[in-house]
Amino acid sequence: MADRPALVILTGAGISAESGVPTFRGGGGLWEGHRIEDVATPGAFARDPERVLRFYDARRRQLAGVEPNAAHRALARLEAAWDGPFLLITQNVDHLHEQAGSRKLLHMHGELLRARCSRCGWSDRWTGDLAGVACPACGRLPALRPDVVWFEEIPIGLDRIEAALEACGLFAAIGTSGQVWPAAGFVELARRAGAHTIELNLEPSEGSDRFAERRLGPASRIVPAWVEELLVAG
Ligand code: APR
Repeated sequence: MADRPALVILTGAGISAESGVPTFRGGGGLWEGHRIEDVATPGAFARDPERVLRFYDARRRQLAGVEPNAAHRALARLEAAWDGPFLLITQNVDHLHEQAGSRKLLHMHGELLRARCSRCGWSDRWTGDLAGVACPACGRLPALRPDVVWFEEIPIGLDRIEAALEACGLFAAIGTSGQVWPAAGFVELARRAGAHTIELNLEPSEGSDRFAERRLGPASRIVPAWVEELLVAG
């Protein structure tokens, strides 16, 4: 199956919802119970590091035991079968894509199962709590932070993402509300490159009308169906 178009996929919290990881917006979303400016900005960490670390410690504990669902597994299958350029960009800080087998993966908002020292730059995989823990490299406290991208910080890999979008022939956004930039603007860059654009989401997202095609429903149902279609069409 040669000559596949270059495929770029963007995922958001909705793809992990059926694995039991809460989304951010909407009823019961994380931002309903917490103010972003209290827990997810550099200023919040400077003012009250313990509070920020406790918020992320709770998120990390929630990840214990969660498993990839049929949507994550379908994207790993797609990557393995795709005979053409492929990039999976996730806004999610969970590890469910890699657990499902995805390898051409970019965590543009970082990873919750990694820690980084805000003082000396040390970073490594981290599965325990961070509140009250000194940096293993420089010994300072508070200094460790989750290796995630906060509001007001620059997402990871933007140059690589932009290059992939400029060359892309097919762009899909899955399980994202389209409210956070720059990810919300990726569809526009893909369109300008001449790509076919498709949204797969439980409900139409904020920027739904920017997509050429839309499939609505739970990710665990609509993503495997879309993947099968793509693979059969090849
Ligand atoms: N299947 C498909 N889509 C779903 C499902 C599901 N089972 N459940 C929820 N959704 C959809 C919602 O309808 C919503 O449009 O997923 C989307 C989730 O939106 P958000 O909670 O806003 O998550 P996301 O778009 O990933 O947020 C982007 O915002 O707070 C920041 O850094 C955080 O990476 C995050 C970024």
